[in-house]
Amino acid sequence: MDGDTTRQPAWLTAIDAIIVRHCGLTSLPRRAWRLEGRIRQRTQALELNHPSRYLALLTGPSARQEIARLVAAVRVDQTTWMRHKDQLDDLTTIIGSRNGAAHIWSAGCGRGQEAYSIAMLLADAYPTRDFTVLGTDLSEDAIAQAKQGRYPMNEMVGIPARLLAAFWHLSEDAARTTEALRGHISFRVHNLLTDPLPTPQDVIVVRNVLMYFAPSALRTVLNRLATVLVPGGILVTGPSEGHLVRDVFTPLPSANGILWTTSSAEQLPARTEGGDRRHVAWSQDPDPARSPLTSGTLDKQPGSIDPFQPTVRRIKGTFPPERLDALKQELFELVERPSARFIVDLDDVEFLCDEAADLFLRLSAHVEQLGGRLEVTATRPGVRHWIERWNLPEHPTDDDRA
Ligand SMILES: C[S@@+](CC[C@H](N)C(=O)[O-])C[C@H]1O[C@@H](n2cnc3c(N)ncnc32)[C@H](O)[C@@H]1O
Repeated sequence: MDGDTTRQPAWLTAIDAIIVRHCGLTSLPRRAWRLEGRIRQRTQALELNHPSRYLALLTGPSARQEIARLVAAVRVDQTTWMRHKDQLDDLTTIIGSRNGAAHIWSAGCGRGQEAYSIAMLLADAYPTRDFTVLGTDLSEDAIAQAKQGRYPMNEMVGIPARLLAAFWHLSEDAARTTEALRGHISFRVHNLLTDPLPTPQDVIVVRNVLMYFAPSALRTVLNRLATVLVPGGILVTGPSEGHLVRDVFTPLPSANGILWTTSSAEQLPARTEGGDRRHVAWSQDPDPARSPLTSGTLDKQPGSIDPFQPTVRRIKGTFPPERLDALKQELFELVERPSARFIVDLDDVEFLCDEAADLFLRLSAHVEQLGGRLEVTATRPGVRHWIERWNLPEHPTDDDRA
């Protein structure tokens, strides 16, 4: 399936729109194959003779449960412990530089790794500091596991050994969080698009979530987040998501491509579940000039990199397995550049062997470990099909955005 939405069946577009209205997530055009596959599977399982009958079911009285099933199948839930560690380290430093209790919301926290990672770093750096981490996600299953605080041992990858020893009870096959760490964190099923908002937060960490939203839903979610962030508070997006929030939030100068943004627009009074309480943990110090990131107290060179400017490389030629090394060399040269976002344009490539997909995936994981993002892009249908088949992180083309 290529990016031309006019060639998508009407039932697919209509079902995607239902999911967008439910939770903001869109599968079109990049993950259309995934949604379509799931729809066909469900159509068959329910013994309906055509996906358009399944569409009718999704608009009927028992639609809610079926929509939730679809969302579970299409949501992207990839996460890791200590993901984009640079960001988390800087966040810890900023919180340490401010007074009072800190309230942090990890929105779209998946199975809890992000919330636990933040809490571990804070509790380790400031053992007596008062802070809370609220972890929320759309997925009931994900939140159930997060609440349990128990993970298979083989998943506990990327956590410094000292933190693992301090905050987890370890057995041969599983790790269980200590009460002390768990005491800082609460979890809750929550839909960012539609559910009542929590009480105001000093920090909102919403990483690798916004990029999956349809534009209309994105706007609504950003406005909602803005109402919940205290004045002078900080919004943390994924390294490649800054451009999505610029209309509503202002970037703080930062280095290493880390995107820290603070709310710019005049704050509306927050309408929250807990009433109109605006807690003021940091409002004594709302001056961004005193932020470590703007005053340069971090060991970084603020402004040395514009995190919004990706480095783009147009690759040309034919890459059968025997020319994979040439491609590898070109890509490695690219990611050595001082940027956090890399876009590889594949429109001039005549042939790519399947091993090249593996190379892109490994390189993208490597860049992500360093807090950046590598995306591929193309407008030619054949190349797009190849990108989608391998589920490579894709940079939207102008057509996608239209
Ligand atoms: C790719 S994961 C990112 C997890 C984590 N923030 C990280 O960066 O590792 C995206 C998460 O966002 C959640 N999500 C998607 N739409 C959401 C919505 N409308 N409300 C709340 N969570 C949502 C998904 O369920 C998924 O767990």
